[in-house]
Amino acid sequence: MTNESKSALGPARYYLTTPIYYVNARPHLGHAYSTIVCDAIARRKRALGIDTWFLTGTDEHGQKIERSAALAGRTPAEFATAISAEFRGLWDQLGLTYDDFIRTTEDRHKRGVQKLFATLRDRGFIYKGSYTGQYCVSDEAWVDVPAGTPCPDCGRMTETVTEENYFFKLSAFERKLLEFYEANPDFMGPESTRREVVSFVRSGLKDLSVSRTSFSWGIPVPGDEKHVIYVWLDALANYITALGYGSDDSADQARFAKFWPADMHLIGKEISRFHCVYWPAFLMAAGLPTPRSVKANGWLLFDQGKMSKSRGNIVRAETVQAVLGADALRYFLLREIPFGQDGSFSFDALVQRYNGDLANGYGNLVSRVVNMVHKYFGGVVPDAGPETAAEATLRQSTVNAIAAFGPAFDELNFSEALKALWLVVAETDGYLTANAPWKKPADRSEADHAALQARVLTTAAEAIRIITALVYPVLPDSAAKVWIQLGQGDIAFAARNAFLTDVQWGGLKAGTKFGEPAPLFPRAEKDATERMQNLEDENNRTVIEAATKQENAAPSAPEAPASALGISPVPAPPAPTVAESPAVASPSVVSVAHDMSAAGVTTVTNNAVTQVTTGPVDSGKPVATAKVHHVPDDLASSRLSSTPIAAPAGAPLTPAEASAAVQASEQISIDDFVKVDLRVAQILVAERVPKADKLLRLEVDLGYEKRQILAGIAQYYEPEKLIGRKIVIVANLAPRKMRGLESNGMLLAASLPDGAPVLASFLEEVPLGARLK
Ligand code: MSP
Repeated sequence: MTNESKSALGPARYYLTTPIYYVNARPHLGHAYSTIVCDAIARRKRALGIDTWFLTGTDEHGQKIERSAALAGRTPAEFATAISAEFRGLWDQLGLTYDDFIRTTEDRHKRGVQKLFATLRDRGFIYKGSYTGQYCVSDEAWVDVPAGTPCPDCGRMTETVTEENYFFKLSAFERKLLEFYEANPDFMGPESTRREVVSFVRSGLKDLSVSRTSFSWGIPVPGDEKHVIYVWLDALANYITALGYGSDDSADQARFAKFWPADMHLIGKEISRFHCVYWPAFLMAAGLPTPRSVKANGWLLFDQGKMSKSRGNIVRAETVQAVLGADALRYFLLREIPFGQDGSFSFDALVQRYNGDLANGYGNLVSRVVNMVHKYFGGVVPDAGPETAAEATLRQSTVNAIAAFGPAFDELNFSEALKALWLVVAETDGYLTANAPWKKPADRSEADHAALQARVLTTAAEAIRIITALVYPVLPDSAAKVWIQLGQGDIAFAARNAFLTDVQWGGLKAGTKFGEPAPLFPRAEKDATERMQNLEDENNRTVIEAATKQENAAPSAPEAPASALGISPVPAPPAPTVAESPAVASPSVVSVAHDMSAAGVTTVTNNAVTQVTTGPVDSGKPVATAKVHHVPDDLASSRLSSTPIAAPAGAPLTPAEASAAVQASEQISIDDFVKVDLRVAQILVAERVPKADKLLRLEVDLGYEKRQILAGIAQYYEPEKLIGRKIVIVANLAPRKMRGLESNGMLLAASLPDGAPVLASFLEEVPLGARLK
């Protein structure tokens, strides 16, 4: 038995899962990372003959999704369907070999979650109570902070929620969990995650609210349908409902019995509390086995920050795939980032790694050897003849790499495993160069040279065969090509036949007919980085345009692509624009106030705000809105005026228009500006005011308080579409009454040439109550 197969000893079946992805944002490289890691593991397990089940999917319920859908003017169901399809489509495009893709809106999941909830309740672990606490919608988590303070995990403002809820007796599991961690030292990793989780539990566990009544986008509590089940209880259960938990079907029950408990839940580090505390506690309470391990990956950082939609600093996997191929992306992610740590992603680093390790390294090595076997031996592997010291050395190094690769990979040290393999790539390269089979010295006989060529090329090809077999889970497409070139046939077939259980030196037989040489990793030229950057920029433009069109369009069919749903990763546009300042300030930003006759014009730029008066905004025409107006660079810090600007909605101002705008405004001092308290607020309620066709009554949440504002935008905005939207308000305006209703503040909006308002909004996630300054 080889070391390779020894490292595979363990259960004959393996169940691994990715986190299920929220459908509030389209997939980016951060999501692709966990899924690619799982795919590599699943491929290796299968090729070791282990019956493997790899689950991924989408997390579609909860307040966050409900609000995102509302923002996009869609129902949560159609919104979730579109984004879920994007995730699944991308995984298919990247060739990821998941066995099942679960959506939490599927019936099989709902059924299982309700069964789990009922089981917990029947076993006495769920009770009803009333609760007031701070809730972080972004993390979908209750947090133990005072009202008006941000979430300690993500920094976003928490909301005070008072509800009658069902509670899970988490406090009963404090000791049990600590004992469980103690008895299962490998349950969670890396070490930093283990420490964090243990200290969280040691600091005391409070009972957990596991239902909500203030919104409805979720799975109803069985028997008490006005409650929906807490989204994390719903989401975590996917790991069992996908296998068949809760089903009466015998095939489902058999799958559940076979694969549960999971061998590994692979997760991002920020969701370890849910997976290492709540999940095992729920399972213990339900009388179900706990997962064997939970392993956390670090974050993929881009431009110094966690790649995320709200930061607008994302890169898409499709971009890398289009320019360098999916294998290059897989290799980079697994080789560059020590698993468990945060890792920086940059196009330059990617291209460097690609050229160094793949194009000039492995790819070039394969090409040299395969070409020479064709050139000198007609493509048929010769008899190697007796081994010399040089072959023995390379053989030993390869055997060492076989021994090192498996255990490192299986312990998730992908980077170390690949490093060990690439030592053999380098050594084989050096061995070829030292023996130069392409060069016959004058004093060497023809027969001796032929013998050297046979020995050297066969030995090098054997090293390549082993490297290729081992690297197959990481570079599946390239390994498949090399396998054919080495005359080994279909690698997918070999994988189905557990070829990794028998990776040993000496497998390449004399007489094997090589396939035709074919390029593997063409060298990336200088423009590769630029091409990827351009693809991202192009995508950003498309997304922004789609969002713009979407705002104007009538609701589309349920299966509309996400890009048409106004769902955008919204990264910063290519050139500096006002979009890079905290608020998306449009050419002119007008406050749509309770006073319809003289709305103030407020322009927000990097550091300055000008407030002057303008004419009425009630032009009555339907508005063509644009989320982002591209403003020339030279305007980035200039002031804009109330002068109507003759630019079509969404079009940039020409420099002349901009300069005219600047000229026309009057200056104020900073002291004037600081008097205006501009704040981020979220619209909770929007409705028409009876007998006032221009007015909407809004209830907005400032994080620290809620208030009512009347705004003259009824002819331009459907009230339902405003719910959930984050806006900017003037928070310190003296209240005034209109139509018998009090208005406490003023909304900011851009004024289009025809006077139509476009509400100011944000490209990045902003906490409620944040001040604009
Ligand atoms: N829906 C929950 C998970 C429920 S699992 C029962 C969730 N979804 S998420 O879409 O926000 O994140 C899914 C995973 O993607 C997390 O593990 C998260 O860490 C990962 N990533 C998202 N952005 C990432 C990076 N920039 N880098 C690495 N992983 C990141 O949380």
